[in-house]
Amino acid sequence: MANPWTKATLQDAKNFDKQKQISPYKERMAIKNEILWGTLQKYLPQDKSGTVLDLGGGTGIWSMRLAKEGYSLILTDISEAVLEWAKEKIDNEKLSEKVIVEPADICDLSKYKDNSFSFVMAIGDILSYCSDAEKGLKEIKRVLKPQGLLIGDVENRYKIFDGRRATSWEDAIRILNGGVAYWPDKESPAPIHQFTPTEIEDLLSAHKFQTIEMYPSHLMWGLFNEEFLQQAINSKGGLQEIVNIEKKMSKDKHLLGCGFEIQFIVRNEK
Ligand SMILES: C[S@@+](CC[C@H](N)C(=O)[O-])C[C@H]1O[C@@H](n2cnc3c(N)ncnc32)[C@H](O)[C@@H]1O
Repeated sequence: MANPWTKATLQDAKNFDKQKQISPYKERMAIKNEILWGTLQKYLPQDKSGTVLDLGGGTGIWSMRLAKEGYSLILTDISEAVLEWAKEKIDNEKLSEKVIVEPADICDLSKYKDNSFSFVMAIGDILSYCSDAEKGLKEIKRVLKPQGLLIGDVENRYKIFDGRRATSWEDAIRILNGGVAYWPDKESPAPIHQFTPTEIEDLLSAHKFQTIEMYPSHLMWGLFNEEFLQQAINSKGGLQEIVNIEKKMSKDKHLLGCGFEIQFIVRNEK
């Protein structure tokens, strides 16, 4: 089963960015990214002389943001078209001296030596989309330095199996029990691994990653009625109010299974 991201065209890659400009996805992503940016700022290395590895970095949102802060990065992705679009944007922003762009599957990072990076990002559910999350995690561990940090996220099985991934009640129950949803491609449906909070916690600790923070993302969309959120978005200061509430509520460990994704920052204990 081919990873569907490898089939993306240059136009698809451009559309990935365009759809982030359309409500309510635009606001959802803006909220996720504002909270994530706060987390990144807390944990990014003070010393900017090393290289940050951006796995499944897509169209370059995080690589470009960090490059503008003075970091050097390697932006990798499984999709050649996505990387082509990312490269064009990086060149236009005159960031090409800060960001190397090259293809890599998270499950095969053999082009990178052991203990190469102090900070690795796998943001945007790459461990859910790759062919084998455990293999991907082992590869990340190998290229991370001892005590190095990984920031990532996975799709949350308790939330996404409802409308976005499941096609029927039977399908929802199958996903709930087995943890595997499928991309809607009739010819070669590729699996998406959806994690329960316990499952991702266990996988990370089995590979000796110590959890520093784990919290739900897109929590407001997991909990609130879409119409109420739209009312907030349309009101003055409403978007910031949603961010503030989400930040506060995401600290409640009992809500970890209520967002669309599970976000984590973990330390490599070799
Ligand atoms: C939702 S996008 C996230 C992009 C970016 N990290 C962000 O946060 O905007 C998921 C990305 O993962 C990439 N991807 C999927 N499977 C992958 C794999 N096995 N190895 C590396 N990248 C992969 C896709 O091509 C896509 O660009």
